[in-house]
Amino acid sequence: MYINSIILAAGKGKRMNSNLPKPLHKVAGKTFLHWLKETLKKASVSKNIFVLGHNNEKLKKHIEGEEFVIQEPQLGTGHAVKLAKEKIKDHESLIIVAYADTPFIEADTIRKMINQIQNGFKISILGFKTNNPTGYGRIITEKNNEVIRIVEENDANKEIKSITLCNSGVLAGKASDIFEFLDQVELSNNGEYYLTDIVSICAKQGSKIGYIECLEEELIGINNRADQAKAENFIQDRLIQHHLLNGVTLLNPKSVYFDATAEIQKDVIIEPNVFIGPNVKIESQTVIKAFSYLENCSIGKECNIGPYARIRPDTVIENNARIGNFVEIKNSVIGENSKVNHLSYIGDTSIGLKSNIGAGTITCNYDGTNKNKTTIGNNVFIGSNTSLIAPIRINDGSIVGAGSTISKDVKENSIAIERSIQKQFKKRNIITKK
Ligand code: UD1
Ligand code: MG
Repeated sequence: MYINSIILAAGKGKRMNSNLPKPLHKVAGKTFLHWLKETLKKASVSKNIFVLGHNNEKLKKHIEGEEFVIQEPQLGTGHAVKLAKEKIKDHESLIIVAYADTPFIEADTIRKMINQIQNGFKISILGFKTNNPTGYGRIITEKNNEVIRIVEENDANKEIKSITLCNSGVLAGKASDIFEFLDQVELSNNGEYYLTDIVSICAKQGSKIGYIECLEEELIGINNRADQAKAENFIQDRLIQHHLLNGVTLLNPKSVYFDATAEIQKDVIIEPNVFIGPNVKIESQTVIKAFSYLENCSIGKECNIGPYARIRPDTVIENNARIGNFVEIKNSVIGENSKVNHLSYIGDTSIGLKSNIGAGTITCNYDGTNKNKTTIGNNVFIGSNTSLIAPIRINDGSIVGAGSTISKDVKENSIAIERSIQKQFKKRNIITKK
């Protein structure tokens, strides 16, 4: 069965107080748009049709290659869905209506709605129970839990306002049915065409409307930064559970931040106050010690990272390597069993196997114009407080003496030292008057 989604995103999102369109804000490192699109894809949706407001060039760029319609003026959710009709080729196909600012629905929930349509329901709506229903449309059911209508907050009397089963806005049905019902929707008292009115129209003609209920958290709608922070909190809890159940030990789970893309193998231990940014892969039995910051990097097995390590993009740390405190690594490969244990900057560098980089080693990779590469071989020993002026190559088995500024390549199995001669004088007697 071919499934289309219609994603409503014409609202201005004013309450975010931002120059960025609302769907491009992020939670756990992924835009709302990305969360929603991923879910829809998992639920077997083949095509997304976006309903955009005018002046939304930034958003358009992010949905390049996808279908969209412009809704101007914005006459309500019913009007928005109706505009998408021209983009639907097969009216026997299914439609899922979703909101760009309600991005955390799970694919399973949408699948359940699709099943209801396949089992003979004309429309399936997604509801949730909340202690705080103000502002939402209320779902009115009759015997056998059949839905008969949705009443918007503005039109609700006291009795209806006390109903806690709310409409999420997500809805499914066959395209031909939904557009047929939409043609019968009349203008509401506040000048909008309500999508929700199709429910009573459908019920009146004797067709069945089903509803799926899911957790309130799944349907967090984001209107402002406070909602975004709430969503972040909820998603972080979800990610923490995911990693714990996968066999990762978190000593203080709430203090670790996870980007949604993190891939962490079992028996990894993560100490408190660690930031796991985008595209981080960590293999089993590695320990990430407290206060470390990792992004776009891949860490092998049985490594020790931190405390206070900063692993920047395009870094690969191979099995059994040790990266200690106050070490910054960028765009580099640290080979198996190698160590950078203290206070170093390693940038645009490749280090082989079993090499030891002493405290305070700096790879001087930037000459003010270009970034240059440092290559360090296997079994190399770099003494403390060394500057390696790139481009440079320190070949296998060599030693660089502490305190050196090395600007020429060092041959295999050699010792290089560059240090001014130490001067020494006899101490004068200093007579101090009493
Ligand atoms: C809607 C539902 C309500 C539900 C609530 C859940 C209707 C009539 N009401 O109300 O039952 O409980 O969502 O959050 O559908 N949009 C457009 N074009 C428009 C109007 C809205 O694209 O002309 C988009 C908005 O950008 C937003 C979504 O549709 O993403 C919902 O619009 P909003 O105005 O927030 O609807 P609610 O009044 O909250
Ligand atoms: Mg709303």
